[in-house]
Parts: sequence; C-alpha cells; structure tokens
Amino acid sequence: MCGIVGYIGEQQAYPILIKGLHRLEYRGYDSAGVSLISENGDLNVYKAKGKVVALENGCKGQDLTGTIGIAHTRWATHGEPNQVNAHPHYSESRNLALVHNGIIENYKALRTELENNGMTFCSETDTEVLVQLIEYMMKSHNCDLFEGVQLALKNVIGAYAIAILEKKNPDQLVCARKGSPLVIGVAKKSDGHVEFFLGSDATPIIEYTNQVVYLKDEQIAIMDRKGRLDIVNLSSVHQTPQLDTLQLNLDQIEKGGFPHFMLKEIWEQPNALRTCIRGRLNPTDKDVILSGVLDHQDRFLNCRRIIICACGTSWHSALIGKYFIEEACQIPVEVEYASEFRYRNPVIFPDDIVIAVSQSGETADTLAAIELAKEKGAFLYGVCNVIGSSIPRATNSGTYLHVGPEIGVASTKAFTGQVITLSMLGLAIAKVRKTLSDDMFHMLVDELYQIPDKMQWTLENNKGIDKFAERFTYCKNFLYLGRGYNYPVALEGALKLKEISYIHAEGYPAAEMKHGPIALVDEEMPVVVVAPKHGMYEKVVSNIQEIKSRGGKIISVITEGDTTVKEMSDYYFTIPDTRDCYVPLLAVIPLQLLSYYVAVTKGRNVDQPRNLAKSVTVE
Ligand code: F6R
Repeated sequence: MCGIVGYIGEQQAYPILIKGLHRLEYRGYDSAGVSLISENGDLNVYKAKGKVVALENGCKGQDLTGTIGIAHTRWATHGEPNQVNAHPHYSESRNLALVHNGIIENYKALRTELENNGMTFCSETDTEVLVQLIEYMMKSHNCDLFEGVQLALKNVIGAYAIAILEKKNPDQLVCARKGSPLVIGVAKKSDGHVEFFLGSDATPIIEYTNQVVYLKDEQIAIMDRKGRLDIVNLSSVHQTPQLDTLQLNLDQIEKGGFPHFMLKEIWEQPNALRTCIRGRLNPTDKDVILSGVLDHQDRFLNCRRIIICACGTSWHSALIGKYFIEEACQIPVEVEYASEFRYRNPVIFPDDIVIAVSQSGETADTLAAIELAKEKGAFLYGVCNVIGSSIPRATNSGTYLHVGPEIGVASTKAFTGQVITLSMLGLAIAKVRKTLSDDMFHMLVDELYQIPDKMQWTLENNKGIDKFAERFTYCKNFLYLGRGYNYPVALEGALKLKEISYIHAEGYPAAEMKHGPIALVDEEMPVVVVAPKHGMYEKVVSNIQEIKSRGGKIISVITEGDTTVKEMSDYYFTIPDTRDCYVPLLAVIPLQLLSYYVAVTKGRNVDQPRNLAKSVTVE
C-alpha cells in the first residue's frame, strides 16, 4: 500500500521523485504528493487527488527547486482520498513534512492527547498524528529530529515506513520503518560525492545505483549531504548498514513495447519460469535441488503436517500446492487464508511446517500468520518473489520465485511462479521422504521441465482471444468451473476477471454447481470450464452437458486434439497435454488473457484497477 520516494544529493530532486512515484504507482494511486526544501529554504508541499499525472499538472508553475525531497503515492486507509488527506503532511509549525506507508493503530488516542495539549489537525489521517507527535516530542524534550522520531515511534502501535524533511535542517533526510518496507539506495559518484535514494521498493532506485540497504524493523536512518548514513534502532544502538547489490535491471520494470505491464507479464511467463527452475530442476539427472529443503532435511522428514498461509491469488496457488504435496509426499496439508488463521488461535504443533506464499513478501496478514506460527514453535518456510522482503527475512528457510518484478496489480507470472515452485518443493520433499518411486519422480521432474515450452505454445496458439473477448464485455456475471487441480484455476480465472474488468465472477468446483450455482445459468451466462483430458474428464463433460441443456454459453479450456468438448463449446482455448498436476500452469494462461482483453475492451485501467493496490501491507 502506498509508495514512498526520497532523495538527498546534488541533483534537482523533483524529477527524480516524480519518476520514482510513477514506478511505485502500482502500490496505490488515489492521491499523490511531494515535498521539497527549495533553494531559498522554504519547505514546500504540493498534493493532488488522483494519479501522479494530476500531481505533475498541479505542480506546474510552482517552485520545484531543491536537492532534497520526499514524495508519496497513496492507497487510502484513514480518511477519504482527497487533497487534504494526501501525503506529505506538515507538522503544525510547518517545520516538518512527513510521508508514511502503514497504519498507526493507536492514532485516535495519540491525537486526543495532542489535541489536549493544544495541537490542531487539518486532515483525518493517522499520518498527520505521527508528524505532529514528532514535533511535539522535539519541542517538549528540546531535542533534534532524530530523537524526536525515536521518542514518537516508541509511543506508536502499528506499522510504518516514514520519511521526514526538516525545514531548519535542509542537509539531512530521516527515515524509519517497522512492518512496512523501505530501501535506501547509495550512489557513490566518481568525484567522491554520495547521494541517497529512498523507495518502498527498489524500482525507483535501480536506474541510479544497484547498491542498497534494506532498512530493518525499528531502525531509523539519517542520511546527510556529506555522505553519512547512520542507522540507529529505537533503543539507540548503532547498527552497521549492510550493503546489498540489487539483482534487478531497468528492462524488467519497463513495459518493453507492451501496452500494459499485465500483458507483458503474461507473455513473460515461459522465460520467467525458465529462470525459476534454473539450477533447481536438472533434466539430465532428472533431479530437483532446493537448498531450502536440503539444508533442513530432518525438518521435512519428521514433519507431522504442512500449513500453507496466503491471501488472494497466492492462496489459489497454495491450494494447487496442497494437492500436489499431499499426492507426492503423503503429508497432510492445510491451506489457510492468512487473515483468518492469524485471529483464530489455530492448533500448531512444533513439528508442523508453516509455508507462507506471497509475491510481495510484505502482505500484512501473511506476515502476521507466520509470526503467530513462529511463537508456537513451527518451522517457517517462505515462497516469495521480492528478494529481501519481510516474509523471507522472518522465515527459517525458503525458495524465491525469481520471476522478476511483477508490476501489474493483477498477479500473473507470480501465480505460475508460485505453482511451479510449490511443485518443485513437493518433489524435493518427496525425495527426502522417499514417497515416490524413482520412475514416477523422474517422470514428474522431466515433465515439469517441459512446462515453459508448453506455456510458450499456449501463448502462441491462443492469439485470437482479443477479438473473441469483445462478445463478453456486456455480460454481468461469469461462472468458472474446474475439478481437482483445476478447481483453484477456476477460482483464479474468476478473480482475474473480477479485479480488472469489474464483472462479477465466481469460481466453483464443477460438481458443486448442482448444489446451487446452476440456478444462475441462462442464455446470458458464460460458463468457463477447465476441461483437460485428465482425471475427471468424463464427469466434467457431464457437467458441461448440464449447463448446455440450460442454455449456458460454454467457454472451455481443452487439451489439444480433444474433439468432444470442442464440439460442445461455444468457444474454446487449447493447451498441450501434460500431467494432471501441471495442467494449472497451462490452463490459467488463456484465462489471464481472457480477463485482460475483456477489461481492455471495457476501457478499464488494467494495470491499476480501482480500489486495489499491489501489496497489501495493512490489515
Ligand atoms: C490478485 C492479487 C492479490 C494478491 C494478494 C496477495 O491478482 O494480486 O490477490 O495475490 O494480495 O499478495 P501477495 O502474494 O503479495 O502476498
């Protein structure tokens, strides 16, 4: 939620900040703002409701000078998205300006206390409370900004990543984090000068430097123009900044000729998955090597149960992972919505393994779920995409997806990256527990290795979806059906359509249809059926017949060469044959494309759908 950018150095800050906001806009886009300490020493704040372009338009003709600044793009939590509630927020004296990502849970109590001490507020936000509290601490303790921040944060309950400017001290930038991400880019120039960049993730930083420090929870960082970077924790203990090198390049975060990031990311899937399996699946020895499992073999050998916690699309991939791991490893696997799990005092045994699946590695509920599991002694395993994010840092072991940055708000390549990673995880655990015959193991490794090529085939052979999608733009409802491994694919297809086209859609296990949803079927209702020639194929054919006899329009995903379902379908997409357990990796692709083209035809903002943000770092 919300994106933060910051800069201190010798360059003009405004263009850097605006470019950074565009890169972070996927995190939230209902309002934006920027603050600069100008060349004549003013602390200016400019804000606008809407996207970053609205801010740019509003800034025209203003004093945009300054070599230090902070900026923010917002996904509203407290207070409606308008100009007043947009960040940065001034303190009462206008000596401070602050941007914030996260939620201050005790903001009401803090605000009442500050109001009782005579402070007044302009906005409804928890963020304004934070900047006022810092100013109050500085005044009442007669201390500098760093100490004021430290004292204020000790009184705060909740999550934050903040960056603060002080008018009286234009040569330093202060930031802090707890629970929300913050990355500091450090660029050393050839003349010895050092400039610092701040970002909620590395995307606003990568074009200036690949040297970064990931700020840790309860750390405060002070950056100044002399190149000093001091990191101190809330208890005043100095921390040595750990410099990491980013594994990211600019091409990965640009559209590369595609009209939307989502389409680019759909087409990237074959290569993204090749990178994901590289060095892990060995086609010659027909082996799988996951260091995250190898380093903890005893845990996997002796575990009683696996619990997978996730949200949204990641929950769907977790469900496919459950089916695979149960089948291959003979371990009971439970899949939990992280938001439910964390609040219901679940039974967790010390010999359980809890897996967190998350693209961003920052989803607040998933993070809280594994923290709860950690308290109960479980072994924690992360399956995440964003390197250095909070979940990988909180887990005992894990496997990164390595599918590259996902910028489109609707998850596509991260979903298939998660499914293939969970399949490799299942194979690696099966190897430790010896639950598969050698022949079966080799065959599953071999077939998984072929998946990226089969994905490419699927993309190349379903090119007409754009034309065909037009016919469905006026539909009010869609039903998605699948069985076994393809039930989660039906859920994912429905979620994709809902979130970017705003058409209501439901995913159902095909056989459950008779227990209710069939009542919805009429001539107006497209029913998308994932019907590969596997498992319960005959039963799915019967389900299709039941829908057709009630007038429903059938859109099917079929195995290449299947004429039975093809002839029963009004429209069909073809995928190459593969093992039942790997069909989701192929079947989801036409469903991603269908939702994409329906949304584009409806004129929706595909990469930034309304009300959504890429990473949900608040509850
Ligand atoms: C849907 C989507 C969301 C995320 C969910 C979890 O396309 O992207 O449903 O899957 O918010 O996010 P992560 O995976 O970052 O934990």
